[in-house]
Amino acid sequence: MLIILLSISMSTLRVRPQRFVPKPVSDPLLSLFHTRSLSPHKHKPINWNTTHKSVQANPLLSLLETCKSMSQLKQIQSQMILTGLISDGFASSRLIAFCALSESRNLDYCNKILYNTQNPNVFSWNVVIRGYSESENPREAVVLYKKMLRNGGSRPDNYTYPLLLKVCANLTLNFTGREVLGHVMRLGLYSDMFVHNAVIHMLVSCRELHAARKVFDEGCVRDLVSWNSLINGYVRSGLACEALRIYQEMELKGFKPDEVTMIGVVSSCAQLEDLRLGRKFHRLIEENGLSLTVPLANSLMDMYMKCENLEAAQALFDNMSKKTIVSWTTMIVGYAKYGFLEIAHRLLYEIPEKNVVPWNAMIGGYVQAKHSKEALALFHEMQASNINPDEITMVGCLCACSQLGALDVGIWIHHYIEKQGLSINVAVGTALVDMYAKCGNITKALKVFWDMPGRNSFTWTAIICGLALNGHAHVAISYFAEMINTGLVPDEITFLGVLSACCHGGLVEDGRNHICGRRQRRHKL
Ligand SMILES: *[C@@H]1O[C@H](CO)[C@@H](O)[C@H](O)[C@H]1NC(C)=O
Ligand SMILES: *[C@@H]1O[C@H](CO)[C@@H](O)[C@H](O)[C@H]1NC(C)=O
Ligand SMILES: *[C@@H]1O[C@H](CO)[C@@H](O)[C@H](O)[C@H]1NC(C)=O
Ligand SMILES: *[C@@H]1O[C@H](CO)[C@@H](O)[C@H](O)[C@H]1NC(C)=O
Ligand SMILES: *[C@@H]1O[C@H](CO)[C@@H](O)[C@H](O)[C@H]1NC(C)=O
Ligand SMILES: *[C@@H]1O[C@H](CO)[C@@H](O)[C@H](O)[C@H]1NC(C)=O
Repeated sequence: MLIILLSISMSTLRVRPQRFVPKPVSDPLLSLFHTRSLSPHKHKPINWNTTHKSVQANPLLSLLETCKSMSQLKQIQSQMILTGLISDGFASSRLIAFCALSESRNLDYCNKILYNTQNPNVFSWNVVIRGYSESENPREAVVLYKKMLRNGGSRPDNYTYPLLLKVCANLTLNFTGREVLGHVMRLGLYSDMFVHNAVIHMLVSCRELHAARKVFDEGCVRDLVSWNSLINGYVRSGLACEALRIYQEMELKGFKPDEVTMIGVVSSCAQLEDLRLGRKFHRLIEENGLSLTVPLANSLMDMYMKCENLEAAQALFDNMSKKTIVSWTTMIVGYAKYGFLEIAHRLLYEIPEKNVVPWNAMIGGYVQAKHSKEALALFHEMQASNINPDEITMVGCLCACSQLGALDVGIWIHHYIEKQGLSINVAVGTALVDMYAKCGNITKALKVFWDMPGRNSFTWTAIICGLALNGHAHVAISYFAEMINTGLVPDEITFLGVLSACCHGGLVEDGRNHICGRRQRRHKL
């Protein structure tokens, strides 16, 4: 069965003159794209009705509609070649669409057909771009888009860009996203609602909230999707107050919120730990008859957990007919946070199909409660259950080792990380530095510190405190100075480290200077 491209309703589309005039895109990498073909279209759009009456009635195409497998497809394709039907744009686009979007899709083969087609129409390009955007390797969609521009035969349209922008959003390709945005402007597709919303979504996903807000404000089309993108974007960036302000604005403009809006505002309440407001939104959901979708129920549960209303969270959880890993993990994290470790642990066992996420949550819960032995025991249990650990698991286990001062286990985990080919990212590296320092091998801690590909302020804090702990007061202070030089901002823990170094080393005057120096810097800010 053929899947019709993008089942987007077009009724809401209103094309008005565009007002948003962007700065010219001056990225040097823009030349990666061959943009010559972005000049206004020379060809007239195809009128499917008249040009293709005979083609549409062709029995081979009806066969294609009922095609079940790639081998059948190849037979139809050879028939199409023999009868010359293949040279018809409409017919070949149907063939390509089957290849790209059907259940037995084969994108490599699709690509081949596309390249062997004389002048693939924009529909053909779009279906393959869509196929890739839904594949395991969505980046290929961008590659194909570049080929489409280079080919020059057909101009990208308002179907092409939402697909591409979605890929950029998903992979946070902010640079490519900006380039694509430039093309959207040049083609004048900016006033298309779907393109416009996809732009906002892309910018929000790339954490470019300022730009997203600007696009939103200056755009002439705006619907609930635009508002939702903006609200959820602000929450995801930790700006709950701003998200709620936008929600108020939206209400004032007379837009009725839906489930997605509610996820945004309820998550804002969770971030602010504002139970009163959270309850208000819960009531609003019920009064407006919005359906309690799984993601919405999950965010309500999370809100109640964060606001320490465990009963309300449990009631929602019990009433959920379809629980996801997120639902279970939310409950585990919540119970562990308030010290109900046994309940959390029991929930972990009850999950029908678990992946690494709830295990990590439980290990993290034990570590936070300083139950380090239980954390390590759970890690062994997890391995026995054939769940592959990830970097987060390793951070949890290393913290447990630091707490226990268990150097031998820590060394074992370090080897294990290397053997499993897990990456020593900033979090894992910092946990290793901390573990070696707390377990007394400061030499090794320093080695890991300097071997890491990147360090953040937590890494520096770990080494400074580690040096202080191991009695290297002067070195700790020189590392502190170096940290400031790299432009990183120390936190309270860093200062505690420096202060304890100063106390150990009898460097009280030094300590006073550092603390006072910091005060002055603060005042200047
Ligand atoms: C195509 O055909 C349908 C009915 O078959 C008709 O409603 C529509 O107006 C036609 N479109 C064009 C562009 O001729
Ligand atoms: C795409 O643009 C065309 C022409 O401007 C318009 O008729 C069509 O409704 C648009 N489609 C979508 C999905 O926005
Ligand atoms: C990207 O897409 C994949 C697959 O659809 C999804 O699992 C993942 O959560 C998405 N990531 C983001 C950041 O949207
Ligand atoms: C993309 O994001 C990175 C880091 O988030 C930032 O340094 C860079 O300036 C951004 N690029 C563009 C074109 O906005
Ligand atoms: C549980 O769900 C049903 C509908 O699925 C609903 O009518 C009922 O009010 C819910 N109970 C609670 C406590 O949320
Ligand atoms: C610290 O680790 C290094 C490298 O693994 C090792 O050579 C050294 O003996 C260790 N020192 C102590 C005190 O354990």
